[in-house]
Amino acid sequence: MRKPLIAGNWKMNGSAELVETFARAFAETTLPASVEVLIHPPFPYLQAASEAFAATPIGLGAQTLNPLHAGARTGEVSGQMLKEFGVEWVLVGHSERRQLYHEGDEAVFDRVIAALGVGIRPILCVGETLEERDAGRTEEVVLRQVGYVMSRLEPAQRRQLTLAYEPVWAIGTGRTATPAQAQEVMAAIRAYQAGFDRELAAELRLLYGGSMNASNAAELLAQQDIDGGLIGGASLKVDDFIAICQSAG
Ligand code: G3P
Repeated sequence: MRKPLIAGNWKMNGSAELVETFARAFAETTLPASVEVLIHPPFPYLQAASEAFAATPIGLGAQTLNPLHAGARTGEVSGQMLKEFGVEWVLVGHSERRQLYHEGDEAVFDRVIAALGVGIRPILCVGETLEERDAGRTEEVVLRQVGYVMSRLEPAQRRQLTLAYEPVWAIGTGRTATPAQAQEVMAAIRAYQAGFDRELAAELRLLYGGSMNASNAAELLAQQDIDGGLIGGASLKVDDFIAICQSAG
């Protein structure tokens, strides 16, 4: 049985105060026992979050990493450094990294390998643009992104991954994919994994991201192949984020 996972991607938002707000709220909240919760704050808040979340069910994630262990990469952060702050999960291949920082499939793969190399669990983000969807290329694009990574990993490495399908046209737009649209792509991703290993396909957790919020989460999470959510805007509002976590139980 796949445990539901709700991950909050704060992107370049938040504050030390918001970390404390989340820690207090989650310390006082009883979540459904099966639900796993993560927050991915910006790098500067990792230390405070690691300490503040310790007494809560919130796990700590990062939003990206550099594939090198160390070196002349001004402004970058390595997986080893993240590990020192108690980070256990990291987003890789988020569409904003692909589009704004020109991270292609190879760069995404290098980051997956770097995360696995230091024992951090990658959440591999994939998704199509509106132009690609309108051209009927959704599955082609999504399965290319998934396949580039999965086909280059060892079986044991594949099992460490979680995938997040985030249609680019739904991110930050308030235009959420319908449950049927999301389920169709998730089913295609899961069927693709079965080509490697039927057990992997059954175990792999598939998250949906793209304007998921407190009002639409339950319907999306009720879909057979949706095992959780990767939440942007709604993860900055603690009550909304808790409501989404409650919906996942
Ligand atoms: O990584 C999650 C993010 O891309 C989704 O953002 O604001 O549409 O929930 P949002």
